[in-house]
Amino acid sequence: MDFVQNPYAPGAGNPPPELAGRHVMLREMHVALQRIAAGRPAQSLIMVGLRGVGKTVLLVRIAELAQGHGYRTLVTEAHEGKKLAELLVPGLRAALISFSTSEVAREAARRAMRVLKSFLNAVSLKMNDFEVGLTIEAEAGAADSGDLETDLPALLVSVGEAAKAAGKPVAILMDEMQYLSADEFSALIMAMHRVSQLNLPVVFAGAGLPQIPALAGNSKSYAERMFRFPEIGALTEEDARIAIQKPARTEGADIADDALAEICRITERYPYYLQQWAHDAWNLAPGPVITRQDVLDATKTSVAVLDRDFFRVRFERCNASEKRYLRALASMGPGAHRSGDVADRLGLKISSLAPARDRLIRKGMIYAPQYGDVAFTVPLFDAYMLRVMPAFP
Ligand SMILES: Nc1ncnc2c1ncn2[C@@H]1O[C@H](COP(=O)(O)OP(=O)(O)O)[C@@H](O)[C@H]1O
Ligand SMILES: [Mg+2]
Repeated sequence: MDFVQNPYAPGAGNPPPELAGRHVMLREMHVALQRIAAGRPAQSLIMVGLRGVGKTVLLVRIAELAQGHGYRTLVTEAHEGKKLAELLVPGLRAALISFSTSEVAREAARRAMRVLKSFLNAVSLKMNDFEVGLTIEAEAGAADSGDLETDLPALLVSVGEAAKAAGKPVAILMDEMQYLSADEFSALIMAMHRVSQLNLPVVFAGAGLPQIPALAGNSKSYAERMFRFPEIGALTEEDARIAIQKPARTEGADIADDALAEICRITERYPYYLQQWAHDAWNLAPGPVITRQDVLDATKTSVAVLDRDFFRVRFERCNASEKRYLRALASMGPGAHRSGDVADRLGLKISSLAPARDRLIRKGMIYAPQYGDVAFTVPLFDAYMLRVMPAFP
């Protein structure tokens, strides 16, 4: 079939032709956005799920919805080794500059700029553009204690006040939140808590791997009140079929029922893999209806592409002992396993494996679904490990 017409969109962050199975969540978020813009309380949300389930495309969709309701949006992505303050400050500063152009918000925006300046001093964040751009005086005693759990709330409150004065709500979107430290996560929770107590028009939408709620630690009870943590996962069979069939039909093509069944079976209905198989089956199919045989023929290509583009980049970020750990975990099959059993598999003490396990968690390769358990963060990664390291080390 025509490669140019191929509607499917495999690849991290690529918006799918049909965003299947997420309507309820998006509708709830849509309501929350409108409530917060109207100065009414609503919960922010943090989407949790494995890699390739569609968290990033949902965040992008939420940003679009927010913009549609007049929000100023601030889109950020956490990284290993990057501070929360560095993620937030550039966007907050840009928002304040734009608020300060409005007559009614000028005072509040300038005050928030002074708070931002003292916040920067306190976290000793040096950024070229700020040194040049912020000629404004710091506001003594505001957001400058040096304790992020005190300073971030003060900063976000002053930003919220400026937003309110400007009549422009603010949406902060953050991807890959598992890279925040527990202190940063807790500061963010406290900040959103203050902002919402004051009914200021600031909303937060985040996404990350499933270990995020556990990061909340001491601020857990606040976190549960402030945020919803919707779990984003594989699609239902019905939604997976819609995700594939609808785009085909839009292009004047179709896919046979048993072909859909085969794609659902082999991908376990994970969104990234659905896109990959549908994309490759389309390109291989003589058409205009994709058959089960086309899907079977696509499997070789799809597996090779995923190995190259999705699995291998993660695998190669690991050293030899981490790879051995992953291989041992993979040999135990899909799902969660006891850390102790992985150690037994390797003939090692659990304590001597703890550093490798912790590094793998920090790198986002594995997570602990509950204390003492480990599981892969990427669906079907166990099968990849067996392909790439056939022999047990
Ligand atoms: N609801 C959905 N229906 C169909 N395909 C989807 C859906 N959500 C995401 N995808 C596809 O899945 C892939 C991964 O999406 P992404 O947002 O990068 O996942 P994550 O951020 O969870 O790793 C992309 O190719 C995207 O087009
Ligand atoms: Mg993502």
